[in-house]
Amino acid sequence: MTDIHFNKEKGSQLKLFTPGPVHVPERVLKEMAKPNDTHRSKPYSEMHQMVAEGLQKLLYTKNECLIFTSSATGIMEACVRNLVNDDEKALFFSIGAFGDRWYEIGVSNGKKSIKQGVEWGKAITSEVAQEALNNDKYSVVFIQANETSTGVYNPINELAPIIKESGVLLCVDATSSMAGVKIEVDKLGIDVCLASVQKCFAVPPGLAVCSVSTAAFEKAEQVKNRGLYFDLIDLKKRHVAKYQTPTTPPIPQIRALTAQLDYILNEEGLDKRFERHEQLAKHTRKWVNEINLEMFPEKGYESNTVSTIKNSLDIDIPKMVSMLLSKGYRIVNGYGQLANKTFRIGHMGEIQIKDLEKMLKVLSEIIDDLK
Ligand SMILES: Cc1ncc(COP(=O)(O)O)c(C=O)c1O
Repeated sequence: MTDIHFNKEKGSQLKLFTPGPVHVPERVLKEMAKPNDTHRSKPYSEMHQMVAEGLQKLLYTKNECLIFTSSATGIMEACVRNLVNDDEKALFFSIGAFGDRWYEIGVSNGKKSIKQGVEWGKAITSEVAQEALNNDKYSVVFIQANETSTGVYNPINELAPIIKESGVLLCVDATSSMAGVKIEVDKLGIDVCLASVQKCFAVPPGLAVCSVSTAAFEKAEQVKNRGLYFDLIDLKKRHVAKYQTPTTPPIPQIRALTAQLDYILNEEGLDKRFERHEQLAKHTRKWVNEINLEMFPEKGYESNTVSTIKNSLDIDIPKMVSMLLSKGYRIVNGYGQLANKTFRIGHMGEIQIKDLEKMLKVLSEIIDDLK
C-alpha cells in the first residue's frame, strides 16, 4: 500500500469527516482484533443477544432487532423482497440518491413500485406525503430518515403517523442517522428501521442491523419468493431460538458493535450522544455562514449527521479535498449529480466538537487560498 495514510507501522493518521465509513476509535479497532469462537458457540450467542438488546434500547423498541451480513443496501432489498407481494403496490418517497436507489431496488425485483420525489434539497412534507398516499392504495411505504446525498433530514416524527394512518407497513432507512439521531421506533410505528454500522455507530463496514415489527414478520410469512440469504423468517427463527444467524456473520464486527453499544448506552448515554450530534451540526452550519458559503438543504431540514454545502464560492472541490487530505483530514465531494456543486462534511460517530473545530480551521485556510 503506497498511501501514507495506511502506514503499516504507525497505523492510519487520517481523520475521517465523512458520511461513512467514518473514523473508528482505537478502542473499537482493538475489539475486532480479539480472538473469537465460532458462530455456533455460546460466547457468540451471548454477544449476539447483547447486540439485539442494545439495539432495542437505542431504537426505543420491543421489536426484534436482527443482524445482517451485508451493508444497509442488503436490508433495503430484504424489505422489498419480504414485504411486497407481486400484486401489491409499494410507494417510495425519494429526496435524493438513496431514495432513488430504494425505488430502483423495488423495480429490479419486479415489484410494482411508485416513486414520489421532491426537488433535491427539500424534504417530504406532511402535505406531499398525504397527497401521495391519497392517490392510490399501497401496501408498504419506503422512506429515508436522513438522505446522505442532500444532507436533508425528513421530518420522520411528523410523517410516520400520517403514513401509518393509511394502513401500510413503514420501512425507514436510518443508515446515516441511527445512533446519531433519536428515532423512537415503537412510538412512530416503524415496521422496519435499518442501518449499516459504518456510519453513526463508528464500526468498520460489513454489518447491518434493523428492527422488525410483528406485523412485518406476519406479512413476510405470506410473501412468496423472499429469497434465501435475506429471508426475514429464516433470520428470525435462528435469532429467536438461539441468538444466531443462519449463515456465518462477521464476528469481529459484531464484537465491535457489542462494545460500541455498551459505550453508547452506558458511557456516553443516548441523550448526550444525540445532543453532541446536534451541536456538531450547528457548529458546522455556523462555520458555513461565517465563511460565506450556503447550506444545500432547505432551512429547517438540515441533517445533524452530514452537512451538504453548496459550492457558492465556485471552489475547485477535488483540489480542496486533496489539500485537506494532505493535512490529515478527509471530507468528500457531493454525491452523484451534486458532485462539484456541493461538498459534504460528515460529523457522525465519535467526532467531538474540538476535532471538528480543528478541521474547520484548516479547511478555512485552504478555502481562503482557493477562492
Ligand atoms: C441513506 C443511505 N441509505 C443507504 C446507503 C447504502 O448503505 P450501504 O453502503 O451500507 O449499503 C447509504 C450509504 O451511504 C445511505 O447513506
